[in-house]
Amino acid sequence: MPKEKNTFYITTPIYYVNDVPHIGHAYTTIAADFLARFARLKGLDTFFLTGTDEHGQKVEKAASASGLSPQEFVNNVGSQFSTLWQRLDVSNDDFIRTTEDRHKKAVTALWNTVLEKGDIYLGEYEDWYCTPCESFWTEKQLAASKCPDCGRPVEKLKEPSYFFRLSKFGQPLLEHIEKNPGFIKPDYRRNEIVSFLKEGLRDLSVSRTSFSWGIPVPGNEKHVMYVWFDALTNYLTAAGYPDNANRLEKYWPADIHIIGKDILRFHAVYWPAFLMAAGLPLPKQVFAHGWWTIDGQKMSKSKGNVVDPGAIVEKYGVDAFRYFLLREVPFGLDGDFSEKALMGRINADLANDIGNLLSRSVTMIEKYRDGVIPSYEPSAEREELEGRVRFLLTELPGQFEKSIGELNFHEALSKVWAVVKELNGYVDKTAPWKEKDDAVLSTVLSTLAEGLRILAVYAWPVMPSSSQKIWESLGLEKNIGEASFEAATIWGNTLSGSKVKKMPPLFPRLQ
Ligand code: MSP
Repeated sequence: MPKEKNTFYITTPIYYVNDVPHIGHAYTTIAADFLARFARLKGLDTFFLTGTDEHGQKVEKAASASGLSPQEFVNNVGSQFSTLWQRLDVSNDDFIRTTEDRHKKAVTALWNTVLEKGDIYLGEYEDWYCTPCESFWTEKQLAASKCPDCGRPVEKLKEPSYFFRLSKFGQPLLEHIEKNPGFIKPDYRRNEIVSFLKEGLRDLSVSRTSFSWGIPVPGNEKHVMYVWFDALTNYLTAAGYPDNANRLEKYWPADIHIIGKDILRFHAVYWPAFLMAAGLPLPKQVFAHGWWTIDGQKMSKSKGNVVDPGAIVEKYGVDAFRYFLLREVPFGLDGDFSEKALMGRINADLANDIGNLLSRSVTMIEKYRDGVIPSYEPSAEREELEGRVRFLLTELPGQFEKSIGELNFHEALSKVWAVVKELNGYVDKTAPWKEKDDAVLSTVLSTLAEGLRILAVYAWPVMPSSSQKIWESLGLEKNIGEASFEAATIWGNTLSGSKVKKMPPLFPRLQ
């Protein structure tokens, strides 16, 4: 995360309230939470935003099907998301709802600014519309006369509409992408957007008269704004647009928008074009992750295989679920979720590796040193043993940060776990239960405690409560989240004299 400013602004998409939260929503949010937590450890003034997307025809239809007004409907169902995020230990700093006044004000201001610049005009729209996807398609884009995204039927719509002069921004966007190779990630996604832009852009219809659940177009209230114009602006609203210039200066542009691959075009084409039109800086990065299938199948309501994160964490624990999602597949690629794979990771990486390392270390410190962590006696002859552990831990910050900078959580975690395994191997090699030399035994026990302390800091962004437990087991009282990454990952003799606490297994083995 190279920065000129000492701030870090990270966002998730805002989720449609008419759907129940599932593993896909949890994935984006947990990945963003990892980065936000890491940024805080790095001492950055971090602002982590998530929220709900509450306007649009889909919500209007869902509300009327349940006999409620749209506002009542969104008030009832919207909190499912914030409740789940609390359950999943998500540390968002704000939760935005597009029905809030602050947001209506921001969207209206953005609209007026773009209108004044001449990039919004009134015209007439005729095209194919997919209601579930809230997307318009040209004849050419349709797949066998159906929506190319979801395969459902589309309808022909003709209505007076405001247009955004998107056609004007194709070239400037291509230039921006060229000059800023980090703007769209992963690279294969950037290439998709470049090809899309090279085909040429048509102006975009940004208002509707066919339904009314949306933010009214200022001065022509028969129209409501296109839901994506409304939704994307949430990133500006929460940063203080339009009135709070200090806050805006501090946090805008966002450092990163984390999204799924299905909504890349909105974030990497429409959104930067709206911002360019308004004369505002563009977000520094848009990162599109892949999708989860479930036991090899596409997840869908009709298949009845939608994974409810609440039920999974009830059964396996929050930290195990978070770890699995980020460790299992490289961020960007698609992955497959199955309880079998989750259990495999829990038993191997969590119970056998980190859990076992903690419990055997604490047990030995209790048994051989009455629970008090001894001091470390460096010695040249043992360079191969403690020296190796120290070397790995000293190398880790750079490697970890490099992987995280590329949003390669999977690689970052596998590097941390390689050291966990190495420490378990160190216990086997040094066999403290056979050690006759008192100073050597102290050195081994102290090395284990110090190693665990440092590893807990690396593990904290992915498993906050287990890492806190590791710290407490080592007799550290402070909240691990208040540690500084730089200070906390330095190897030293920092725990000598500290009293360990035996705890129940961090991750019990599953049968
Ligand atoms: N409301 C819009 C976003 C507006 S942002 C200005 C929206 N909402 S959504 O609720 O449908 O989905 C949000 C996110 O969930 C997307 O990033 C999408 O990629 C992600 N996922 C939905 N299903 C998924 C999987 N099966 N796997 C992984 N992520 C998935 O789009």
